[in-house]
Amino acid sequence: MENIFKSQLSALRQKKHLSQELLAQKLFVSRQSISKWENGESEPNIDKLISISEIFSVNLDFLLAGHTHGDALILELKNLNKSFKNPVLKDVNLSIYGRDRIALLGSNGSGKTTIVNTILGNIIPDKGSVVKHFNAQDDLSVMTQENCLIASLKVREQIALSLKIYDAYSKINIDDLLKKFRLTEQSEVIVDQLSGGQKRRLALLLTLIKPSKLLILDEPTVGMDLESIDLFWDYLDHVGGSVVTITHDFNQIDNYFTRVVLLKDGVIKSDESVANIHSNNQTIEHWYRLMNQ
Ligand SMILES: Nc1ncnc2c1ncn2[C@@H]1O[C@H](COP(=O)(O)OP(=O)(O)OP(=O)(O)O)[C@@H](O)[C@H]1O
Ligand SMILES: [Mg+2]
Repeated sequence: MENIFKSQLSALRQKKHLSQELLAQKLFVSRQSISKWENGESEPNIDKLISISEIFSVNLDFLLAGHTHGDALILELKNLNKSFKNPVLKDVNLSIYGRDRIALLGSNGSGKTTIVNTILGNIIPDKGSVVKHFNAQDDLSVMTQENCLIASLKVREQIALSLKIYDAYSKINIDDLLKKFRLTEQSEVIVDQLSGGQKRRLALLLTLIKPSKLLILDEPTVGMDLESIDLFWDYLDHVGGSVVTITHDFNQIDNYFTRVVLLKDGVIKSDESVANIHSNNQTIEHWYRLMNQ
């Protein structure tokens, strides 16, 4: 398999005129380690990868897969209509661009998950269309509201399987991932026997190891303890591409998103930049309470 990381690292280092020695000092590793990474003889662990992405101000998937994302249009929802017993989506229109970080908000039952299922192709709209300007197989990663895990596998096996599927097996060390997502003690546990919060953390880990142009997270932090929620927001900060997160967790929401989209009465009732909301001295929670009345 092609090792993109080694060429990315050496190109970034040369662009910044940073010697192997200096980069090694910043990362608290030996110069020989840098040399081995650039020769493809070894790979840094996930913590060092994150540090490297910070030093060079690039995203993890740019480092690992060479993906860059501009502000190009990547997904359009056009006149989406969907009824079950009652109409849920009445006329949903939304355009998502390459660097958007969108919080998709709305009351319980307003149709947020129905939108995700329509993007995934699990629900066929009655009217309207989803236009994907990317390869859905390779470039879409979704953490669904219900965990998609294989109950009979051990945690380590489940992660190894996903790494193989995403062709990232040699680039990412499973023990580092387990540690990062606080699942080391559960590595040999059968997925079905994990607690609810542990399953959610595993589902998040599996979603985040797939490099994607569009990452959709449907209530990712539900059931997680405080430490895991902190870890989630911290990790999300290092994800490239565009992100749509459905959440009812207003604690961190102001720090992370660039756009908020409110689904109400079957339509996108408001689509606002977070900068605008903040410039009016509002928090997103204030804005949401006002708009969702
Ligand atoms: N497969 C289905 N069959 C029948 N009704 C459905 C189906 N999926 C969703 N619905 C209904 O559509 C409405 C919207 O559901 P949806 O799950 O999209 O809401 P949501 O905004 O994600 O809510 P929450 O915040 O509770 O997750 C609800 O009234 C729900 O009962
Ligand atoms: Mg939902």
